[in-house]
Amino acid sequence: MQAAWDARKHSCCDYSHFAVGAALESADGRIFAGCNIENATYGLTVCAERVAVFKALSEGVRAFQRIVVVTGAESITPPCGACRQILWEYCGDVPLTASNESGATKTWRMSELLPHAFDSKNLR
Ligand code: THU
Repeated sequence: MQAAWDARKHSCCDYSHFAVGAALESADGRIFAGCNIENATYGLTVCAERVAVFKALSEGVRAFQRIVVVTGAESITPPCGACRQILWEYCGDVPLTASNESGATKTWRMSELLPHAFDSKNLR
């Protein structure tokens, strides 16, 4: 949780002003954190969750146990559809905990967030 809040401080969100932090814990206990990164084209924005996943994957890490996502919104922020797809494919059915500045938290499993997922099994 603290790693996600720390990463959120680095958010590049000049366009939305919506700062997001994420922290992904690998199976062996290492933490990979990320923040959302926006740019002038808007569409090339990468969410905090995907930054965290891509950091871990690019360092050769392939097994994960949980992910935390934090925002300053009043209500809990669930992950966007693109992040659900990536998290499902690379992290599997891990718990995702979302929190906000009030300290409220909500935890889902990825299979709840992305039921009937399309993944590599559908390509066989
Ligand atoms: N965002 C995330 O980083 N994660 C989410 O789960 C939802 C949205 C970012 C994308 C964009 O930079 C900003 O929040 C507003 O959509």
